Amino acid sequence: MKYIEFGNTGREVSVIGLGCMRMADLDISDAEKAVNAALDSGMNFFDHADIYGAGRSEELFGQVLKRNPGLRDRIFIQSKCAIRNGMYDFSREHILSSVDGILKRLGVERIDCLLLHRPDALMDPDEVTSAFRELKSSGKVSSFGVSNMNRYQMEMLGCAMEDKASVTITADQLQMSLAHTPMIDEGINVNTDFDGAVVRASGTLEYCRMRNIIVQCWSPLQKGFFKGVFIGDPEYAELNKVLDRLAREFSVTPDAIAYAWLLRYPAKMQVMLGTMNADRIRSASAAASVDLTRAQWYELYRSAGNSLP
Ligand SMILES: NC(=O)c1ccc[n+]([C@@H]2O[C@H](COP(=O)([O-])OP(=O)(O)OC[C@H]3O[C@@H](n4cnc5c(N)ncnc54)[C@H](OP(=O)(O)O)[C@@H]3O)[C@@H](O)[C@H]2O)c1
Repeated sequence: MKYIEFGNTGREVSVIGLGCMRMADLDISDAEKAVNAALDSGMNFFDHADIYGAGRSEELFGQVLKRNPGLRDRIFIQSKCAIRNGMYDFSREHILSSVDGILKRLGVERIDCLLLHRPDALMDPDEVTSAFRELKSSGKVSSFGVSNMNRYQMEMLGCAMEDKASVTITADQLQMSLAHTPMIDEGINVNTDFDGAVVRASGTLEYCRMRNIIVQCWSPLQKGFFKGVFIGDPEYAELNKVLDRLAREFSVTPDAIAYAWLLRYPAKMQVMLGTMNADRIRSASAAASVDLTRAQWYELYRSAGNSLP
């Protein structure tokens, strides 16, 4: 496993983390198996959100923590808030009450990072800053980040936070997989009239690189918006051929090559695994030691159906 520094928290986190969105579907014994598989593989990073299973993922994880004394202090717990029924809510009141709910369900006194889950069109940077300042000073949250935000939204929030609360945006969690690459396409196709040039994220990856913001890739195996995994999908026959060949060359699984492709991007990268299968979690960890060459990286990109201008 490889580790990176998580902002200025002084904490080292694994580049592959266990996303716990699908934990809600498990019983406590399988949830514990998934957590143990991640720990055995050197992962120390666990990603939650208050909405996963309407709180059940966090509750189950809290039970795992209870059954394993000492575990809390060895791991990094991140959660998210701000998605509500029919709206996004960055109000101070909602952020503060959400964190109280998260802490209660997890059974902990502090989380290591809080992300704002999806941009609230009505956000007020000063109000968010005030909530973050309180969470930081009360010790309930150690660091902060965002999810699904573009460069301009991060700049707008970040300016207020840095000025008024000495808080920085540490991570942006974004959808990214070999079958979902609009943020990369826009950089490769700048100023062409190809579809790939359509700006959907406004230089977000480049901004993250400039500001040392960690890019956390969500749904690393999905095509489209939760349309299923591309591994073994005949619609992605060419991609699977290349994944299988490279998997043989590196003696890892095709999934691990798909994760290694994300980790090869030269920002500070993390992959949020979605699998809850202990064997797949273990084999995924090999991705951290696969160093794809530039030629291999581009071959995978092209085989996923992308062309270069
Ligand atoms: N910030 C956001 O807006 C946002 C949105 C969505 C997700 N997330 C985060 O990202 C994490 C990952 O998302 P995700 O679950 O969509 O990730 P994913 O890894 O793309 O998809 C996971 C799904 O794929 C299946 N799978 C994994 N490997 C497979 C294989 N080799 N063949 C067939 N099926 C396979 C898994 O089933 P098994 O469990 O049976 O292996 C699971 O159902 C979440 O847990 C959450 O933490 C964040």
